[in-house]
Amino acid sequence: MKTILAIETSCDETAVAAVNSNKQVLAHEILSQAEHRTRGGVIPEIASRAHMDHLDGLIKSAMEKSNLNFRDLDAIAATSGPGLIGGLIVGTMMAKGIAHAAQKPFIAVNHLEAHALVIRLLQEVKFPFLVLLVSGGHCQFLIAQDVGKYIKLGETLDDSLGEAFDKVAKTLGLSYPGGPIIERLAQKGDGTRFKLPRAMIKRTGCDFSFSGIKTAVKNLVQKLEMNEKDVCDMCASFQECVSDVLLDRVKNAIQMTESLNIKVSDFVLTGGVAANNFLRKKLQKHINLNILCPPNNLCTDNAIMVAWAGIERLERNYIDSLNFAPRSKWELDMIMQELQ
Ligand code: KG4
Ligand code: ZN
Repeated sequence: MKTILAIETSCDETAVAAVNSNKQVLAHEILSQAEHRTRGGVIPEIASRAHMDHLDGLIKSAMEKSNLNFRDLDAIAATSGPGLIGGLIVGTMMAKGIAHAAQKPFIAVNHLEAHALVIRLLQEVKFPFLVLLVSGGHCQFLIAQDVGKYIKLGETLDDSLGEAFDKVAKTLGLSYPGGPIIERLAQKGDGTRFKLPRAMIKRTGCDFSFSGIKTAVKNLVQKLEMNEKDVCDMCASFQECVSDVLLDRVKNAIQMTESLNIKVSDFVLTGGVAANNFLRKKLQKHINLNILCPPNNLCTDNAIMVAWAGIERLERNYIDSLNFAPRSKWELDMIMQELQ
């Protein structure tokens, strides 16, 4: 049995987890930085300073709660990209420091791979499977063929879906992160009231574009004096719109997978936006694959997924050098070439 300590600092969550290869979570310490709430988005400099302030304390309590000593670990993992470079440097340097001092292997985890693989911590999911990763930083379809082996089928041409939720929330005067607030207010709203553009629908491929939808909301909001009902109706109309877009794109992604002669039966919906129950239900109703979704706390950023990706990599002996430099951009379909 192998045990890993993992660090996540790629955005605005500072998190540390200890997980073993028996799929036991021994500790998970997470701090969602409150500093960004009133600012409509994450301020990178503030985020990296907050990671600096809190990371060592979270590591200490994760080690205490899991009753582990650094000697007991089989590796130290950190999210080393993609993400905000300041935070990535803080987490990666800390992991390397512990790895060096304790003479343990270091594993540089790709944040997108962590989102894609966490479902395998929770249940038996065999490769290959289809992944829709919808988060604040990313929005893409992947075929997960194996650990370290991905095909990207499509992605957003502009904003990620999480960004669209956050920007629409800001336009409506709601705080950050906007996704959960929009979901809550939409329950009280009329989703048929505002007609928003279903961008990319009926086009070939499975790319996305969300910036037009966001602008359409902005234009409507400028014309109206938004009362509480208007805000709820806009939230519901926005969710209706993006759910139609997602459904159309998912159907194309499934067709593309078939045309590559890859048979998948599982469809993993993951990343922060996958915590949205309305979107999940819409896809579950209309898609003929086995839709799997981690629980909300493992959809949004966390260190358990980083630890699990670390375990999967350690089991295959995919170890990284202490010279590994964090990367703000790090495409998942490039990982395989590096392993060869
Ligand atoms: O995966 P994540 O925690 O961080 C990144 O890797 O980006 O995703 C954060 C994003 C934010 O944009 C947030 O608004 C969105 O996920 N989000 C949601 C919900 N919960 C979080 N979007 C829609 N509905 C939700 N319930
Ligand atoms: Zn994420």
